[in-house]
Order: sequence, then structure tokens, then C-alpha cells
Amino acid sequence: MKHTYITTAIPYLNGDPHIGHAVDYCLADVFARYSRLKGDEVKFQAGTDEHGNKIFQKAKELGVPVEEYVQGNVDKFKDFIAKLNASYTDFVRTTDKQHEKRVQEIWLKLKEHIYKAGYEGWYCTGCERYVTEKECKENNGVCPDHQKPYEKLKEENYYFRISDFKDKIRQAIESDEMVILPEFRKKEILKLLDESPDVSVSRPVSQLTWGVPVPDDESQVMYVWVDALSNYLTVIGYPDDNDYSVWWPASVQIVGKDILRFHAILWPAMLMGLGLNLPKVILSHGMILADGQKMSKSVGNVVNPLEVLDKYGLDAFRYYFLRHVDTFSDSDFTWQKYDEAYNNELANDLGNLVQRLATLAQKNNLVLEKRANIGFSAEYQKYMESFEFSRAFDYVWDKIQNLNKRIDDEKPWMLAKNNETEKLNVCLNDLINDLLEANYELSVFLPNAADKIFEVFGDSIKPPETPLFPKTKK
Ligand code: MSP
Repeated sequence: MKHTYITTAIPYLNGDPHIGHAVDYCLADVFARYSRLKGDEVKFQAGTDEHGNKIFQKAKELGVPVEEYVQGNVDKFKDFIAKLNASYTDFVRTTDKQHEKRVQEIWLKLKEHIYKAGYEGWYCTGCERYVTEKECKENNGVCPDHQKPYEKLKEENYYFRISDFKDKIRQAIESDEMVILPEFRKKEILKLLDESPDVSVSRPVSQLTWGVPVPDDESQVMYVWVDALSNYLTVIGYPDDNDYSVWWPASVQIVGKDILRFHAILWPAMLMGLGLNLPKVILSHGMILADGQKMSKSVGNVVNPLEVLDKYGLDAFRYYFLRHVDTFSDSDFTWQKYDEAYNNELANDLGNLVQRLATLAQKNNLVLEKRANIGFSAEYQKYMESFEFSRAFDYVWDKIQNLNKRIDDEKPWMLAKNNETEKLNVCLNDLINDLLEANYELSVFLPNAADKIFEVFGDSIKPPETPLFPKTKK
């Protein structure tokens, strides 16, 4: 049996679940459901990134001990993932004792590539990284992503010798040993790789206590990204539980484009240092914008995902973020587009189709002869295997719209009126079976709606008592 390992970025715990986190979970869930239906055994990791300055400072601001703060926040994320019906199998917290122990073992294995040196430079706690003098100047001393001035830090740190691996990483990216999607991000990464200095991988305890202690050096804790990236391995048992070798290398690692650099440079370098294979694919999705703008607390345009979920329920949420949000590029969220997608597409195209067909079938006492061996069509599989999920979804939606057209053209109600029973039977059987095939493909995107549709056309046909997607406007 094929083993498929899918990972998602682990969110920082210093805020509430964000719409961007939902993108990671929904994309990963689509691939997980698709792979399971193909017969693969699937591991789908999720988790939380709980160390580092950002979180420590937030807890301090609130006057809560940091341990208590993270403990109180983690359930919000678990609830959120459950609300999205994302079918994860494993959850890792970077404050789990087992994770911490395994990260320390990882550190020890990487030791020959690590050295200690003094450093003075500009740091952004929002990004949790040092920026170069050039970058700092270009941005006038303020991080454009976090609108915070860079801090001048002078510290003794451990460094990870990225230079040991640069050539091999370049080769792995160029040869697609580690595929970076979308293709246009590959060039950006190769350019960054050339410019990448060795990475500082620890902070002095005098600056930061909230981290995994560096083994054999009480004066330092690990850099949050080393700790965080390692989650993908510790959660599957690395290094002490050999089960990890069943799952590693990951089939696909899903991250937003803002954190691709960590996943495409530091992470492969760590893996090479450990003597492990690189992930097969890193899928970097775009950012969700609000009314064309980056979401930010200071602008006050942050879209609350729970509010979006509440408006029309989960199917509408997944529909919008998996179809109208392109898998690879930045996309906009507006309430108007959301309303339109719900009313014009989910309600009009899919809801109506189910209602019409089920009512016609029931009224005419149709004996439904279901086709055996429902499966994925070749074209759909082609899109899924190349991780073009929004295009796969478009393809399924075309089928749904086509079925509506066919009903209009074939006018089964006229066949009924003219007592053309045999023709009516063939026509409805064809339409319903085609709908069930489309519904099978739809089920990875909208599992809840798909279950209801399979139920409507179960052993007996029962039109939904209330429409699947009640309309909210004319
Ligand atoms: N803790 C790190 C990830 C460590 S992974 C080893 C982190 N956390 S985060 O909370 O800032 O982001 C988590 C995920 O949410 C990332 O994939 C990020 O790209 C995604 N998004 C956060 N805001 C987003 C949008 N506005 N749009 C789409 N996704 C974005 O980075």
C-alpha cells in the first residue's frame, strides 16, 4: 500500500485562527481525501508553533505565564481544524516533551554543521529572522510585513552552515528531486539560495528563555524555526521510532508563500545534514487578501474565519477557498464575492440540480440502477496529481453546470407528460449516475455536501426537505 504523508505549516499561537491557516488545512485535506479514496494510507499532520519571542511577548503583554497562555490557546486551533472538517491524523505541539527531546537529538545529529560566533544585526521578531543590512536599508528600518522597526541585536549565537549544502540544494531544486510549486517560485528561491548566509540557529538565554534548550549549552535556546521545522519529523517518530521511515519523505508539504524560504532552504539543509531525503513536493499557496489589500490588524481589515464559517456553513467556506481562491496565487476575499458564489453557484448550480433530479425521480417512481465502480476520471486525476486543486474543482463544477444544461435540453418532465416511460427512465438514470460520479469527485472538496447528496440518491430517492443551500436573495 502506498503511504502518503501530507504536512501543514504549524501556526504561531500568539493569535486566533486566521483565514490563511484555513487555506493550509483545506488544501491538505483535499489531497488527504483524494489519496485515501485512491487507496493510499495517509498521514496528515497539523500542530502549533509555541516557542519564540513573539509568543513570549504576547503572554507578557497579557500578564499570563507563557505556559498557561499557550495551553489556553491550543484548543482554539484544534476546534478550528475540526470545524473545517480537515481530516488530520496527528497533532504536534512544539512544547510537547517528546517533541522537545527529539529536537534536541536532531540538534546533536547536526552538530558537525553548527558553530558558535558573535553577531550583530537587524532582527524582526514578527518574521523571527535576521535581515541583511541591505534589506534593512531598503525597507527604511521597518519590516514591511509586520510594520515594526527592526531591532539591533548583538549576540553570541550558534550558526548552521548552510554553505555546506547550497550546491546540493540547488541541484535538488533544479532537477525537481524536490519539486517547488508553483514553478515561478522556483526562480525566486534559487536566487535567495545564492544570497543565503549561514543561519543563526540559537538565541542566548539572556534574550529569550522560551525555547528548547540547546543540548550541552545552558546559555542558549534553539532558534524557533529549527524547532518548528523539526515538527514534520518528530511527529512521525524521528529519530527514535523507526516508524518515521514509512512516512518520510513527505509526499507534499503545504505552506504559504511567505514562509517558503524557510522550507526551501533551511529545511532541506537540515534534512541533508541528517542524511534524510528531501520532501517530494513543497506546495506554496498565495495569500488571501481582503478587498485587494493585505490583511492587518492596524488597517482593521482582518477577516474572521469563524464569521465566514457562520454565515453559510462549512460547504460554502470550503467551496470559496478551494475554488475561488486559486491554489497558487494571491486571491481576494470580499463578502460580496462570497455571497455571489454561494447564491449563484452553490445554491443555483448544485442545490437546484439535486432538488430537480431527486424530485423528478421521486415523482416518476424511478427505479435507479446505479453504475458499479465509481471512480476518478483521468482528467481530474491529472489535475490532482499536479496539485492544481482549484482547477480540478473547476473541472468538477463544469460537470455540474453541464448536467443542468442537459436537464434543460432533454426536458424529462415532457417525457413524463407524454408517457414516454422507457425514455424517461434512461434519461433520469443517466443524469443521476453522472451526478453521482461528479459527486464522488466533489467529495474531496465538499465532504459534507457530498455525503448528503449520496444520501438523497441512496437505496430510495428522497429529495431534501429543505434545499441543500437555501438562497438568501433573489
Ligand atoms: N509558525 C510559522 C510556521 C512554521 S511551519 C514549520 C508561521 N505561522 S503563521 O501562523 O504565521 O502562518 C501559518 C500559515 O498560515 C502559513 O502557511 C502562512 O503562509 C499562512 N497564512 C497566514 N496568513 C495568510 C494569508 N493572509 N493568506 C494565506 N495564508 C497565509 O508562519
